[in-house]
Amino acid sequence: MIALRPLADADAPAIRRVYSGATITFLARPAMTSQEAEDYVVRVREWAAADPVEQYILGVDVAGDLVGVVKLGRRPDGHGRVSYVLREDCWGQSYATKAVKELVVFAFTTAGLDSLGAKHHPDNPASGRVLAKVGFTRLGIQRGMIEYHLAARP
Ligand SMILES: CC(C)(COP(=O)(O)OP(=O)(O)OC[C@H]1O[C@@H](n2cnc3c(N)ncnc32)[C@H](O)[C@@H]1OP(=O)(O)O)[C@@H](O)C(=O)NCCC(=O)NCCS
Repeated sequence: MIALRPLADADAPAIRRVYSGATITFLARPAMTSQEAEDYVVRVREWAAADPVEQYILGVDVAGDLVGVVKLGRRPDGHGRVSYVLREDCWGQSYATKAVKELVVFAFTTAGLDSLGAKHHPDNPASGRVLAKVGFTRLGIQRGMIEYHLAARP
């Protein structure tokens, strides 16, 4: 059973595990330290409390195990940007696809967005598969990244 949920202070060690190993290969960042993970969950909760919310970050919870995060950035023009990060030992079990599907529903209902965009590095085809399976359309390469789009159904 997979669920998206807000992050709590107690999630910091799990977040640190997510941002480590092979998972950070395409994220252009080093592995997260314990302090960075603690700061991260505090920052995420501050963003969640903003009005309006510009950045949603939700934990991907599988039977009580926090295996990753999904992110939704909101632009004032009704467009949102989607991204996702899964802990390495949880890859290949459709968790990212299920989580992004839930995030898309959230984006077009609770967040009230009209369209979504996402991108991935050309050397990261698994990320492209996730977007394709969720229904995103591939637009082409922009600034070295493969860009995708999804519009809300009328
Ligand atoms: C990309 C990522 C989120 C995928 O998570 P996941 O839970 O393994 O994804 P899913 O299991 O839902 O789907 C992965 C799909 O990619 C496919 N895939 C995996 N490796 C692949 C590869 N090297 N080439 C092509 N397809 C690949 C899988 O077969 C699956 O597709 P299928 O269901 O059609 O068989 C995860 O690998 C990750 O967190 N990577 C590091 C962070 C990252 O890249 N985030 C995205 C930034 S744009």
